[in-house]
Amino acid sequence: MKFFRLKEIPIQLEESSMKRSLKTRDLLLLGVGAIVGTGIFTVTGIAANVYAGPALILSFLIAAVAVGISGLFYAEFASRIPVIGGPYAYLYSVLGEGIAWMTGWFMILEFLLAISSVASGWAGYLQGWLNSLGIYLPKIFRASFHLKNGTYVDLLAVLVLLLVMLWVSQEVKKMLRLNHLMVYVKFGIILLFLIVGAFFIHPENWSPFMPYGFFGQHGKGVIAGAALVFFAYLGFESVPMAVEEVDDPQRRIPQGVLGALILVAVLYILVTLVLTGVIFYTKIGGIKDPVAYAMRSVDQPLVASVISVAAVLTLLTVCISMMYSSSRLIYAVSKDGLLPRMFGKIDRKARVPKNATFVVGIFSMIFAGFIPLELLAEFVNIVTLMYLIFIAIGILRLRKKFGQPKQGEFKTPWVPFLPLISIVICGCLMFHLQKGTWIAFTIAFIIGLLIYFFYGQKHSLLNK
Ligand code: ALA
Repeated sequence: MKFFRLKEIPIQLEESSMKRSLKTRDLLLLGVGAIVGTGIFTVTGIAANVYAGPALILSFLIAAVAVGISGLFYAEFASRIPVIGGPYAYLYSVLGEGIAWMTGWFMILEFLLAISSVASGWAGYLQGWLNSLGIYLPKIFRASFHLKNGTYVDLLAVLVLLLVMLWVSQEVKKMLRLNHLMVYVKFGIILLFLIVGAFFIHPENWSPFMPYGFFGQHGKGVIAGAALVFFAYLGFESVPMAVEEVDDPQRRIPQGVLGALILVAVLYILVTLVLTGVIFYTKIGGIKDPVAYAMRSVDQPLVASVISVAAVLTLLTVCISMMYSSSRLIYAVSKDGLLPRMFGKIDRKARVPKNATFVVGIFSMIFAGFIPLELLAEFVNIVTLMYLIFIAIGILRLRKKFGQPKQGEFKTPWVPFLPLISIVICGCLMFHLQKGTWIAFTIAFIIGLLIYFFYGQKHSLLNK
C-alpha cells in the first residue's frame, strides 16, 4: 500500500544546495531563540496562580522530562538519518510516506499557529505601549476579526510578520545574526531578573509549596501545570531543520537539540523559583508580564521597564526561528513531491527556499490577522503531542529495522522503555486537552489525509 511505502536512507550526506555554514553555537542560539518566548514571559503568571503555585518548578521539570525524552529520539534520528525535514523525513524512512506526510502536516500547522500567536501577543504589547503614549489605532485594526467588537484585522501583527518574512528570506548567516543578537538580549534580561530578584526573595512566599496538589483536582495541580507549560519548550524542533546548512550535522544536530533543551529547562526553573520567591503566587494571576510585574512589586521600576521592552523585542526571535524552520520543512516536503514543486525552489542568490518562506509568511499573516489565536493555543499542543507519539513509535521501528546505532552515532538509552514512556506521557497530556481542541484536531487530521490522497500520493517522487 502506497501509504506505507518507505524512502531509502541516503548512504552518505546528501548534496546540499544550501550553504553548510552553521556550527553548534548557531544551532544552540537558533534553538533557544525559537524556544524562549511567551511561555516564560507570559504564561508563568497564570500557571503559578491557577495551576501549581510555587510547585510550578515541578511542572516545568516534568514538561522538560517529557520533551527531553523526545529530544533524545530527535538526536538519534538526526545522527542516523541526517536529511532535511526533521521528523517528517525520519519517519519517511521508517514508518512510511503517509505517516511522514501527516507528521509534516502537523508540524507545519504547529509552526504556523505558534508564529501567529506569538505575533498577536507581540502586537498586543506594542499597542499597550502606543496607547500609553496616547496613540490609538483605528478600531478595525486593533484585533483579529470580531464583528461584534467592530475589529477586522490585527494590523500590527500582520505588519510585523511581513517584516519577519522579508528578514527570513535572506541568506541564512545574515538572517541569523539578528536572531543571535536578540537571543543574547534575552539571556541578558533573564540574568538581570535572576540577579536582582535574588535580593528580594522571601522564602515564606514558597509556602504552601503545592497548594493545588500534585495530580490535583478540577484540572489543577502540578501535572495540569505541566500540560500547560509544555508549550514553553516547543521550538526545539527548529534545530534539525537546519541540517542542510550545518557543517557536520550528525554530531552537531544532537548537540544543538539537547543543549538548547537543557539550557532552557535550567533557565525556566530558576526564573520560576525566583518569581514565586519574590511575589506570592496568588498575586500574579491575570498579569500579562509577570516577570516585569514582580520587579515593579519590589520597587524596581527601571529593571521592570528594561525587562518589558527587551522581552517584547525578543519575542520576535520565536517568529524568526519558527518561520525559518517551517520554510525548510515545506521545502523538504515539496522536494519529495508531496507539495507543489515550486516550494522546493532555491533562490539562486541568497541560496534559501524563498517561495517556501513566502508561503509560510503569508499564511501566518492571515492567521495572525484574522483568527483569535487564544482559542487555538491548545491546538498547537495537541498536534505536537501527536507527532511526538509518531516519533516514539518511529524509534522503536528504526531499531527493529536497522538495529543499534553505529559507532559515532547518537544512541537513545533504554529503548524500548523510553519510547513507551513517551507514548504514555504524550497520550496523557493529550487527554487533558479540551473537547473543542479535539474537534479541531479531527478536522485537521481529515484535511491532512485528503491533501495526501488527492495530491501527495499522486505526485510523490517515489512513483518514479
Ligand atoms: N516555546 C515558545 C514560547 O514559549 C513557543 O513562546
